[in-house]
Formats: sequence, C-alpha cells, structure tokens
Amino acid sequence: MKVAVMGCGTVGSGAVEILESKGELLSARCGEPVELKYILDIRDLSSRPYGKKVVKDIDLILEDPEVGVVVETMGGIEPAFTFCMKCLNAGKSVVTSNKEMVAVKADDLFEAARANNVSFAFEAAVCGGIPVIRTMFTDLGANRLTGFDGIMNGTTNFILTKMIKEKMSFDSALKLAQELGYAEKDPTADVEGLDACRKTAILASIVLGTHVRPEEIPTEGISRITLEDASYASDAGAEIKLICKAEKLPDGKVYAAVSPAFVSRNTMIANVSGVNNAVALRGDSVGEVFLYGPGAGKEATASAVISDVLECIRLKKNQEHYYFAPHRDGLLCGKGENITSLYVRGYAKHMETAAREIRETFESVRFLSRDNSPANELAFITGKGREKDLYEAVAGIRDFASASVIRVL
Ligand code: HSE
Repeated sequence: MKVAVMGCGTVGSGAVEILESKGELLSARCGEPVELKYILDIRDLSSRPYGKKVVKDIDLILEDPEVGVVVETMGGIEPAFTFCMKCLNAGKSVVTSNKEMVAVKADDLFEAARANNVSFAFEAAVCGGIPVIRTMFTDLGANRLTGFDGIMNGTTNFILTKMIKEKMSFDSALKLAQELGYAEKDPTADVEGLDACRKTAILASIVLGTHVRPEEIPTEGISRITLEDASYASDAGAEIKLICKAEKLPDGKVYAAVSPAFVSRNTMIANVSGVNNAVALRGDSVGEVFLYGPGAGKEATASAVISDVLECIRLKKNQEHYYFAPHRDGLLCGKGENITSLYVRGYAKHMETAAREIRETFESVRFLSRDNSPANELAFITGKGREKDLYEAVAGIRDFASASVIRVL
C-alpha cells in the first residue's frame, strides 16, 4: 500500500520520518509493503532527504490508484477539509491529526468515508501519542462509556508545571513550549483552552455517540491563573490543572466543560506534569481506566498517525469503526447546571464581617491561607452545590469582592 502525507510541518515530518525509516517493520506489521509515495507541501523541501517525493498538486495523489491512505497533517479547517473530502471521495482512507477539523467537520467526513467505503481515522487528534480514541472505540467496546476527566493540552500543562514548580514566568514558559514544538501556531488556542475544547468535543462525541460541537462546551483557559492561587491550592493539598471533562448524567444528557480546576494531590491526574497528558476514562463495566503519556510533540503524535495508517491498511473497510452520529441540539446539560465546589479568592472590606457572611452563606466552607498574603485577602473552598447557585452566592457576599474563582474537581 502506498501512502501520501499532506503537510510536512512538525507532525507531518515526524510521520514521514517513521514511514521512511521503519518501512520494513511497518510492512511486517500489516502483512504488505507500506511505502511513502508523495508529500504534498507548498514549501520548497527539495533539500530534505525525502525531497524527491514532494509534490504541489493534490491531483497527483487523487489520481494515483496505488495510493490507498492519505495522511492529513496540515492543521486548520481549510484547505485541509476540502483536501480530505477529495481524498475520501477518490476512494482513499484518510488519517488526520487535525482536531479542529474533526471537532467541527466530523459529520461530513464520516458521511464521505461511509459513502466511499473507506476509513477515516483521527487517533492523533486527541492527546498526541496516547491511544485514547482506539481505546474508547475498541478496547472498551463492551462498555457504555460514562465520562472522562483529562489533561489534554500539553502546552498549558507544561506552562502550569513550569510556573508552579519552577516559578518561571508565563511568557518564558510559553516561549519554551513553542521552541519545543508543543504549541499551536496561534498559542491563544492553547492558552485560552480552545485546543483542549476541540479535543473534549471529540471525546464527548464518542461518549455520547453523537457529535458534540466545540461551541457547545463552556471553555476557560489558564491565562487568569496566578501564583497566589497556586499557593492557596498548595494549602488545600491540590494542584491547579486545565481539566477537560465530560460526564453522562442520569437524565441521559452530557455535562462537558474545559476549565482550570483544583485537583487533589492524591489523585493520579494531579501528578501529570510537563507536556504529558492523561485521561481517566469511565465505562459501566470496567470502572475507570487511566491513560498517560506524551500529549504533544513531533515523534509522539506521529506515532499515533502511523498506527492509524497501519489500522487502515489492515482493516481495509472499517468505515463503521470510528463513528458517531451527526449533531443534534439539546443533548448537553446547560451551563452552570453541574454540581461542584468552588475555590474563591478575593478581598474583604472588613475581614471579620466577610468571614462571618461567607460562613453563613455556604453550608460548609474551608478557609485557606498562604504566606505573605495582603491583610484584606480571603480564600476559601465552598461545599458542593449547583455551580450557578454557588456563583450567585459568591456575588451576593456584601463585604467581599472576588478576584478569582476556580472549580474544585
Ligand atoms: N498544542 C497542542 C498541545 C498540540 O499542546 O497539546 C497537541 O495537540
């Protein structure tokens, strides 16, 4: 089987290198020769070792009957989506690492794969090198999936780890993540949670069995997290992590969100540091399965891409294999309807009055402390309640102005 790669950036060049250097191993694993035939890229890559394979015209790939699988590692929605649709409609299986395209365009891509009796696979779109999609679709196939908690953006986890453990500034940590090839082209997508939201939408779609769109998921990034909040988290025995969450509720709806959260240090997810990702998947028979590994980076993500290529070759016609139903409205629980506790930090007009009011407002409350806090600063964790009720209660405390509110997982 001949393979083409569209987009030879960080992940694409990793996929090319694996195809070029491990041809024998890959061929043995799927029982037929696997060979890279074309690389589609608009840049001049003629000086690269694989320069002779670089082409600029997608029609060469579409019209070549030897090419059975096309890898899309261009990123962004266009022209990637148009190119993928052309490949599927030309009868070629498509493998992608492009979470934005999958999160937004899954319905069209699945339909085209079905209509043409080919595969569409996207393992590398979520959690880099961790085999989470395949685990959900196949290895947990005996389960009704009930939800997950995950750290699914390597850049923000890297930044939070550097800030909290090494007191590195936000800007220096982001710059380092970009140099190491973890960050998106536009780092806002990482920092403000958009990348994590797209990945959450994909996994939530698998849990629900129906396409969940990114815009349906309330999303908050890490740009407002301060070292003060990290100190209070430490006093609470917690770490602050950007948590991606989806949970099936008893009424059949799904609660999904991306936000920073206090996570108890006693949990495995709190101990996931650096660029690593992790997902705790829950199924009705298995209970909880914890997957951990590199969530970004060239080789790790290319590993997931090539495992999909092998699966496409082995299964040939697996169009039902990776699939969720088209989007429908009204399947997600409303914003703020979830049950949670909140961490709150803010400033009191009169410390004693505010502390008394806080105690009276919440059924249970735990005050936190940190070294060198200003005399009028108060921080506490509320008991559990409906999130929007808790927010209203915080806003209603007369002698207190909140500066930071973070969910407690
Ligand atoms: N920017 C992404 C991350 C890359 O940091 O996780 C992998 O999707």
